[in-house]
Amino acid sequence: MGSPDGIVGVFDRAADTYEAVGVPWAGPIAARLVAELDTRPGERVLDVGCGRGAALGPLAEAVGAGGYALGIDLAPRMIELAARDLAGLPQAEVRIGDAGAPDLPPSSFDVVAASLVIFFLPDPAAALRSWAELLVSGGRLGVTTLGEKDPGWTAVDRLFEPHLPADLVAARARGLRGPYSSDAGMERLLSEAGLTKVRTIPDQVTAVFHDPEQFLAFSWSHGQRSMWEAVPQDDHARLREDVLAEIDRQRDATGSVAFVQEVRHTLGVRP
Ligand SMILES: C[S@@+](CC[C@H](N)C(=O)[O-])C[C@H]1O[C@@H](n2cnc3c(N)ncnc32)[C@H](O)[C@@H]1O
Repeated sequence: MGSPDGIVGVFDRAADTYEAVGVPWAGPIAARLVAELDTRPGERVLDVGCGRGAALGPLAEAVGAGGYALGIDLAPRMIELAARDLAGLPQAEVRIGDAGAPDLPPSSFDVVAASLVIFFLPDPAAALRSWAELLVSGGRLGVTTLGEKDPGWTAVDRLFEPHLPADLVAARARGLRGPYSSDAGMERLLSEAGLTKVRTIPDQVTAVFHDPEQFLAFSWSHGQRSMWEAVPQDDHARLREDVLAEIDRQRDATGSVAFVQEVRHTLGVRP
């Protein structure tokens, strides 16, 4: 099978370095989501867009040997690496599957988790409805999205803009508005999917980069890779130097750069 297209292709190519460049990011974000979902031994849980298992690993630990934790993702390399990393947890299973429309029986899970995924889906409202239907009555859903970005990070993003197609810059700006820009917007999405007891848990994660090269490795290992891949090849060397110089400029007295990212966990219950 060839590499998948679009954002899934980006994550497929990022998979080998995803969360593996010495900067904990998806891990701490997912750990908080899992804690808030209050998953118990023996439960059946689903992690949609599981990647390498940042949420699926702790979910599988929480349900224990008597439970079941399934992760689905469309990036084959993510699934391959998650299967390898979770091989010691027989209650965990990973398989290729579309988070936008999971092909799974209704009312078959106690918990559905989606960490850092929903904003990649073409129809988030439809995805949420399909996730709600997978829950038993009283089952819990948790969706994690990103809030305010550190200004230092925004300064780096701006360096990309002159190298990107105008429609991509506009699409990014639109993505920062819409339902993902507020607690209320996300809560409305969950309520409209038929969930009740909808609430937001505010959170934040601090990404620490020990030097500019580590920032660069991180930016290729996560969603920002999609920006690098959209930059014309001839511009890469110049942009790389500009990004390294910007991170160098932002170093603190210890030589590191720390970016604080606001995070939003939105939770609901199927009536
Ligand atoms: C930022 S990563 C998050 C992965 C994981 N949940 C975590 O917290 O580390 C986004 C993931 O969503 C996956 N993804 C994007 N669109 C998808 C879709 N339609 N169906 C399944 N997975 C999808 C990507 O392949 C990628 O693994």
